[in-house]
Amino acid sequence: MSDKKELFHPSAEVIANATIKDYDSLYQRSIEDREGFWAEQANELEWYEPWDKVLDDSNKPFFKWFSGAKTNIVHNAIDRHLHNATRNKLAIIWESEAGEMCSYSYYALNREVSQMANTLKSMGVKKGDIVTIYMPQIPELVFAMLACAKIGAAHSVVYGGFSYEALAARIADANSHVLITADGGWRRGKPTNLKAIANEAMKRSPTIEVCITVKYNQLDVEMESERDFWYHDLKALPIASPKCETEVLDSEDMLFVLYTSGTTGKPKGMVHTHGGYSVYTATTHRMAFDIKPDDRWWCAADPGWITGHSYIVYAPLINGSTIMMYEGAPNYPYPNRWWQMVEKYGINVMYTSPTAIRGLMRFGDQWPKRHDLSSLRLLGSVGEPINPEAWRWFYDVIGGSRCPIIDTWWQTETGGFMICPLPITPLKPGSATKPFFGNEIGVVDDNGDEVPAGEEGKLVIKNPWPGMARTIMGDDQRYADLYWGDYGDKEYYKAGDSAKVDDDGYIWVIGRMDEVLKVSGYRLGTAEIESALVSHPLVSEAAAIGLPHELKGNAIHTYAILKEGVAGTNELAQELKAHVAAELGRIAQPEDVTFVDALPKTRSGKIMRRVLRARALGQDEGDLSTLEE
Ligand code: WT7
Repeated sequence: MSDKKELFHPSAEVIANATIKDYDSLYQRSIEDREGFWAEQANELEWYEPWDKVLDDSNKPFFKWFSGAKTNIVHNAIDRHLHNATRNKLAIIWESEAGEMCSYSYYALNREVSQMANTLKSMGVKKGDIVTIYMPQIPELVFAMLACAKIGAAHSVVYGGFSYEALAARIADANSHVLITADGGWRRGKPTNLKAIANEAMKRSPTIEVCITVKYNQLDVEMESERDFWYHDLKALPIASPKCETEVLDSEDMLFVLYTSGTTGKPKGMVHTHGGYSVYTATTHRMAFDIKPDDRWWCAADPGWITGHSYIVYAPLINGSTIMMYEGAPNYPYPNRWWQMVEKYGINVMYTSPTAIRGLMRFGDQWPKRHDLSSLRLLGSVGEPINPEAWRWFYDVIGGSRCPIIDTWWQTETGGFMICPLPITPLKPGSATKPFFGNEIGVVDDNGDEVPAGEEGKLVIKNPWPGMARTIMGDDQRYADLYWGDYGDKEYYKAGDSAKVDDDGYIWVIGRMDEVLKVSGYRLGTAEIESALVSHPLVSEAAAIGLPHELKGNAIHTYAILKEGVAGTNELAQELKAHVAAELGRIAQPEDVTFVDALPKTRSGKIMRRVLRARALGQDEGDLSTLEE
């Protein structure tokens, strides 16, 4: 990272095409009159009843937005489009890994969502319930999310790569009575067995009364009578009528809970609500990507993560875009798969992660070069800082040196983009550039005072914003302490990242400061990995660290102290890796397990992971004054 790296200026064509031509003046206005700015953005949407207050900060840090307003995100994502030409526009273009294609107009989307909503109602789901969803990336996953929202239930989407343990823990935390799943999906030509995993999870989940299964990959699955229903059977019944009123909700009613890793072993259920989240996701999407009415938008994430919630499902639908969805692996059957689809469907904006770019870059330029990628207008990146090599390749080879790269910094907790350029912003590869409108971003020391330009500090957000998570489900205190407690009178949101600001005011995010790892863009807590290791009967203590990895950004390396008398064999190391994968899911599988007799700890007994990292990298171990003898 360097502050003086070359600046990439947008072309005259990009500038001519841009809706917002002056960032500075709109930014000034947005922070001088934050509520006025957000009220204006909220007025781009339809509301059943207007708000009394744009921002209610009477109970900090539990901010409320558009309080008193009546709304439902589905009204803006679907219903309002049914009264104009958008009704006949494609909402979703979907391709399976095997290459089948299907598409849904907004009119068809409404029908599908309404049928699923009525089905859920007939199963007793009502306002305030949380429905757990565990599915492959198929259109029914989107229908399920929207169906919950439509009837005022919240959803908890659990990523399809997670294990039964992780699924069961999330079902229990959400107290879900209904689970929606599928027989399975496809990954690199092989069927995945989601229903079998869901069955294992349900053995540990006494709250589940009903499991609805979508038939997709035709895998033979075990169905339990009374509890398990095929969706296609239910859909054929009169209960699944295609007419369903959208529930009128309060702006602050819960839309979803989404679990993310933190510093403890227990994932945090971040709560997002209808009103503010609608406004924030739609505005960030519309402005940062300068969304045009005829855009075909592809966010190549999984709907199981916040990126998918906000920018596959909600924001693009609110903005009336056509969404591209692809079920499978990016390089299946060949490394041109994504580029083939960009050409085939005429994608205009493509939003992905540095890890995916690096993964495809290694196969060489010949794969994208086979395809006409001239439909692309803008590119986007999210998940971790993008390294200059990946940036250049994305920019030159995929974007034809024509398309600005919108590098967006944000988090599960923020709901939407917090730092990102606009198409007109001069770019510096590796920097997410400037704050999005309405946000004041700081890089501060332990007292909350700004550090000088070029120095590393803690990234904070100095103001509330409509897309912010409202709390950690069931644990208001933890939310207040973890995110807002550090700077006394200065009510700053602590992001958990370290960053620098350069002389031009560009923000450079360096990485996580807490015990959270970004592995292939996925967020994992060292504590979760360690407790998975320790849950193995032969392990007594464990530590997990992240070390740099060419493709993954960071990779997980672990250390284990075995129980007395147990020999640390190669077979046992393999078994422990598989054990972590089974407990948490494939994405959490460590690269290796090193057997040790002791771990470096502080006198208070905390594992000093930075010492392990320094040793592994052959670096100076730094200040060891707190190390236990
Ligand atoms: C963490 C949040 C938000 C969608 C996906 C990740 C890192 C995210 C960037 C970026 C540098 C980034 C941060 C952040 N991060 N985007 N553009 N540049 N770092 O959501 O799983 O909640 O992870 O991802 O470290 O804190 P998440």
